[in-house]
Amino acid sequence: MRLILSLLRLSFLLTVLSVQRLWAAPSFSLDYNADCFRKDGQRFRFISGSIHYSRIPRVYWKDRLVKMYMAGLNAIQTYIPWNYHEESPGMYNFSGDRDVEYFLKLAQDIGLLVILRPGPYICAEWEMGGLPAWLLSKKDIVLRSSDPDYVAAVDTWMGKLLPMMKPYLYQNGGPIITVQVENEYGSYFACDYNYMRHLTKLFRSHLGEDVVLFTTDGAGLNYLKCGAIQGLYASVDFGPGSNITAAFEAQRHAEPHGPLVNSEFYTGWLDHWGSRHSVVSPDLVAKSLNQQLAMGANVNMYMFIGGTNFGYWNGANSPYSAQPTSYDYDAPLTEAGDLTEKYFAIREVIRMYRRIPEGPVPPSTPKYAYGAVTMKKLQTVADALEILSFSGPVKSTYPQTFIDLNQAYGYVLYRTTLPVTCSEPTPLSSPLNGVHDRAYVSVDGVAAGILERNKVISINVTGKAGSQLDMLVENMGRINYGKGINDFKGLVSNLTLGKDTLTGWTMYGLSIDDAVSQGRLGETPSAWANPPQPASLSTPAFYGGSFIIPDGIPDLPQDTYIKLPNWRKGQIWINGVNLGRYWPARGPQMTLFVPVNLLSTAAPNNVTVLELEGASCNPQPCTVEFSATPILNATVQSEDEQHRRLFAKEDLL
Ligand SMILES: *[C@@H]1O[C@H](CO)[C@@H](O)[C@H](O)[C@H]1NC(C)=O
Ligand SMILES: *[C@@H]1O[C@H](CO)[C@@H](O)[C@H](O)[C@H]1NC(C)=O
Ligand SMILES: *[C@@H]1O[C@H](CO)[C@@H](O)[C@H](O)[C@H]1NC(C)=O
Ligand SMILES: *[C@@H]1O[C@H](CO)[C@@H](O)[C@H](O)[C@H]1NC(C)=O
Ligand SMILES: *[C@@H]1O[C@H](CO)[C@@H](O)[C@H](O)[C@H]1NC(C)=O
Ligand SMILES: *[C@@H]1O[C@H](CO)[C@@H](O)[C@H](O)[C@H]1NC(C)=O
Repeated sequence: MRLILSLLRLSFLLTVLSVQRLWAAPSFSLDYNADCFRKDGQRFRFISGSIHYSRIPRVYWKDRLVKMYMAGLNAIQTYIPWNYHEESPGMYNFSGDRDVEYFLKLAQDIGLLVILRPGPYICAEWEMGGLPAWLLSKKDIVLRSSDPDYVAAVDTWMGKLLPMMKPYLYQNGGPIITVQVENEYGSYFACDYNYMRHLTKLFRSHLGEDVVLFTTDGAGLNYLKCGAIQGLYASVDFGPGSNITAAFEAQRHAEPHGPLVNSEFYTGWLDHWGSRHSVVSPDLVAKSLNQQLAMGANVNMYMFIGGTNFGYWNGANSPYSAQPTSYDYDAPLTEAGDLTEKYFAIREVIRMYRRIPEGPVPPSTPKYAYGAVTMKKLQTVADALEILSFSGPVKSTYPQTFIDLNQAYGYVLYRTTLPVTCSEPTPLSSPLNGVHDRAYVSVDGVAAGILERNKVISINVTGKAGSQLDMLVENMGRINYGKGINDFKGLVSNLTLGKDTLTGWTMYGLSIDDAVSQGRLGETPSAWANPPQPASLSTPAFYGGSFIIPDGIPDLPQDTYIKLPNWRKGQIWINGVNLGRYWPARGPQMTLFVPVNLLSTAAPNNVTVLELEGASCNPQPCTVEFSATPILNATVQSEDEQHRRLFAKEDLL
C-alpha cells in the first residue's frame, strides 16, 4: 500500500514536472545574486566558440558546427556583417551562403546555443569592420556615432535584421541566448554615450525586454570607460598571455555582480601580408582556458574556426596593413575545418567541466592534389576595358574616389596623359599618400612601377607629352579597427608629375567579377600585340586555364589548395567564383583554400587569374598548382613586425 501510494505520488510529481516543463516559457537571464546566467531557472555557464558563417561555404556549416559540438561546446558565437547583407542601400541578400537564418537553425538542431553579435560594427578583420562602404557617400560622416545619417542607416538596417532574429531568441524557442550591442566600442575614439544609448533602445524595441544584451571590451579600465553603459551587461576579452585575475577585476569594476564573461578568448591571432604567420601553442591555450573555467567563468573562444576571407572581404589595420585571404587564425579547427592538436587539447580541458557528447568526432575532410594546370595569357586589363567597364568611363579634372564612382570593392582604372615630355626620369608622386591602396602604373602600355600606400609614394617615369598614363588602383580591403575606418579608396588625393598636378582623368569602374563569371574575357588578338615589357614587371593581365576531375578515383571531387609559385600578386576565380587575393611575393600565405563546392565533375573547371605585376613564366609555361596541403607561414620576418608585438589589442591601434 505504501509502495503504491509513493508510486502514485511519484507519478503525480512527474506529471506536474512535465506539465511545468511544457508550460514554463523558456528563459535566459542574468543572476546578479549568484554571479551567473540562468537558463530555464537553472545555473548556466557557456563554453563557446566563434564561427563566422560568412567565412565558410554553406555546404560546410553543418560539418564545422558538429565538430564544435563534439568538442564539448554548448554554444557558438557569430558576427553578422552588415555589408555582406546590404551591399547597396535597401538591397538585402539573405540567400545561399548569406542565409543566416538557416545557420541559426542548424546550430539549434545540432544542440548549440548562439551568442549573436549583429554589430552594426563588428571589426572581425572584415572589410570596414562590417560597415557598408556606401556609408562613405556622405564624405564627412562620423561612423559609430550619433551622426544623423549614420544613425538613420543603422535604424533601417536593424529594422530589417532584428525582427528577423527575434523568433530565434531563446525566449521564443530559438537558440540565441545573448545579443551583443556594437563591438569593443571603448576602443573607438568617439566615446559617444548617446549613440550607445540609442542602440540600446533600438535593440530593446525590436527584441523585447527579456533578452540579455551585452557589450564586449578590452580587459582594461581605459576600454570599459567608453564601452560599458547602463542597461548592457559588460563583458571583456583577452588572450592566453593575459593575467586572468587582473582581466576579470577589470570586468568586476564595470559589473560588480553577475557572471564572469570572456567574450573573446584568443586561440590564435590574425595575420597581415608581409608579416609572420601567427601561432599560439595549444598548451598555452589549454592552460589559460582551464584556469578561466576553474573560476566559473563563461568563455567564448575566438576563433574556434576562422575560415576564409573570400573575394574582397578581408579588412586591414593601421598603419595600413591588409589581412590575407586565409583567416585560419591558428584556431583549433583549421581554415578547412580540419582537426588539430589544439582541438583535442581544448576538448580534454572541457571534459573536466562538462560531459562531452559520445560518439566519434567527424574526421577532417580529405584533400586532393589535382596537380599543375597550364595557364594561357588572356587580355590585359587595358585591352579588356570595354568588357570590364560596362557603365563606361567617368571624366573629371581631378581624380575621384571609388565611392564617387559608385564602386565599393575591387579595381578601378585611372587614365590620363603626360602633360609634358619627361625625357629624364621624373617623379610621379602622391605627396599626400593618397594611393589607396596600390596602383599599377604604365605609360603607353609599358609597366612603369607600383605606388603603394605608406610604402612607395613616388616612382620615376619617362615618356613623351601626350603619352597615355594608366593606373590600375586596387582596394586591398578597408581598415576595420580604430579611427581610420573612413577608408576611402582609389586616388584620394592629387598626383603630381614633377611640379605639375595631373588633371584630365578618365576613370573606369571595373565589374571584373561579372566579366569573369560570364566567361567574357578572351585572348588579345595578335594584331594588338602589347608593347614589350621591362624584365621585372608587366601590365595587369588575365590568365585562364582549366582542369578535369580525374575519373575512376572514388570520392572525388574533394577540397584542394591552389598555389601560385611563379606569380606575384593578384586575384583568383574558380569557375567564376572569386576565391580571393594571392600574394606569394609577400606571404605569409602561399596557398588558397578551394572548397569542393566550387568544383564540377560535369565540365572542365575554369581557373581565371588576374596577375597585377606579371607572372615570371618565360620560357616555361605559366602554371598554377593544386596541392593537398596548405602553406600559411612562408614569411619568416619583416620590418613591420619589429614595431608590432603580437597577441594584444594595444598592438592594433
Ligand atoms: C546573394 O548571395 C548569394 C550567396 O553569396 C549569391 O549566390 C547570390 O547571387 C546573391 N544574390 C544576389 C541577388 O546578389
Ligand atoms: C595578476 O594580477 C593580479 C591582480 O592585479 C596581481 O595581484 C598579480 O600579481 C598578477 N600576477 C602576475 C603573475 O603578474
Ligand atoms: C628618380 O630619378 C632621380 C634622377 O635620376 C634619382 O635621383 C632618384 O633616386 C629616382 N627616384 C626613384 C624613386 O627611383
Ligand atoms: C586636387 O587639387 C585641386 C586644386 O588644388 C583641388 O581643388 C582638388 O580638391 C584636389 N583633389 C583631390 C582629390 O585632392
Ligand atoms: C568552363 O568554361 C567552359 C567554356 O566557357 C564552359 O563550357 C564550362 O561549363 C565551364 N566550366 C564550369 C564548371 O563552369
Ligand atoms: C610552417 O608550418 C609547418 C607545419 O606546421 C612547419 O613544419 C614549418 O616548419 C613552418 N615553417 C616556418 C617557416 O615556420
